[in-house]
Amino acid sequence: MEALAVAPGNAGTAAIADQYDVDITSGEEVAKLAKRINADLVVIGPEVPLVLGVADALRAAGIACFGPSKDAARIEGSKAFAKDVMTAAGVRTARSEVVDNPAHLDAALDRFGPPAGEQAWVVKDDGLAAGKGVVVTADREAARAHAAGLLESGHPVLLESFLDGPEVSLFSIVDGETVLPLLPAQDFKRVGDNDSGPNTGGMGAYAPLPWLPESVVTQIVEEIVKPVAAELVKRGSSFTGLLYAGLAITSKGPAVVEFNCRFGDPETQSVLALLDTPLGQLLYAAAIGDLDGEPPLRWRDGSAVTVVLAAENYPGRPRLGDVITGSEAEGVLHAGTARRDDGAIVSSGGRVLSIVGTGPDLAAAREDAYRILKTIKLPGSHYRSDIALAAAEGRISV
Ligand code: GLY
Repeated sequence: MEALAVAPGNAGTAAIADQYDVDITSGEEVAKLAKRINADLVVIGPEVPLVLGVADALRAAGIACFGPSKDAARIEGSKAFAKDVMTAAGVRTARSEVVDNPAHLDAALDRFGPPAGEQAWVVKDDGLAAGKGVVVTADREAARAHAAGLLESGHPVLLESFLDGPEVSLFSIVDGETVLPLLPAQDFKRVGDNDSGPNTGGMGAYAPLPWLPESVVTQIVEEIVKPVAAELVKRGSSFTGLLYAGLAITSKGPAVVEFNCRFGDPETQSVLALLDTPLGQLLYAAAIGDLDGEPPLRWRDGSAVTVVLAAENYPGRPRLGDVITGSEAEGVLHAGTARRDDGAIVSSGGRVLSIVGTGPDLAAAREDAYRILKTIKLPGSHYRSDIALAAAEGRISV
């Protein structure tokens, strides 16, 4: 029997899967549910349950699971751990320093940012922050205020040197030392057009990247992803799941901005729109340690562009509960949505919908995405109008 179950789910997944209201951060509850419904495979989507060890609980219960162990998920959960792994693996990444004492902040800021020859300060929350713990600014006071705020709330701060150059997200399905890269994508982290405003979890994405030579993708896989996967195996923290490399293509070559331990949002929506190989089989093969037996991936020709429709005030505290119309259109994927008792679909999170357009090239895929977007109504919502524009106009080069 083929069946799909989702926890906790949203109004979109409710249309295609059984929904279960379990605490997805509890390994015990997730394993109990998986046993009850006889799940062949559990795919853990978000980083929080992975960092908390839900995959370990499933494996201990004998259930095949796509998602790294608690130990391996530290590649996202602790930026200091990720830096240590990268140093050991000889991978290029930003120079960095962890500050956990406010008395050391000013001296540390002096070692980073514009006076140190950088273009900006990069101040990050050392733990998980859904993309919103990062401030990149040339304004020392703004950098200091963000870092001081994090320290005050008990969060160590990571200061990094600024990596110049276009960003790339390269996702790989990983099973120990076996690495199967997907198509490269680019996401848009700032809330406003022309990269203005604060950072978000991602306001749009496109794939593939016409400006990125195939040789650079090979270089990323061979010189970055494989050595990091091998280093995790060497440390006894073998990674099984999706290893997300966020990179900057600098004048000296690709360098890592961050690793994540799960599919990235909204790049995934663009990448999977082009994948022809059935995804479930791939994830299952990785989960049972059989990934190296899989045939090469098949991809559709053309491009995919994803535009995120966000709730009023996102990435601040978003306004929730607004009625959405038009979300059943083809190419519309749900994120922060819920079905109200009267049947209406309402917003229930900051990033509400992803609209995925496809076409023979980026210009056509953009047109498709924005055409669909215009048919959706959500009061107070906003989106970026420049997703994939620079790439479609040939304005990105490395
Ligand atoms: N696209 C950013 C993220 O998923 O973290």
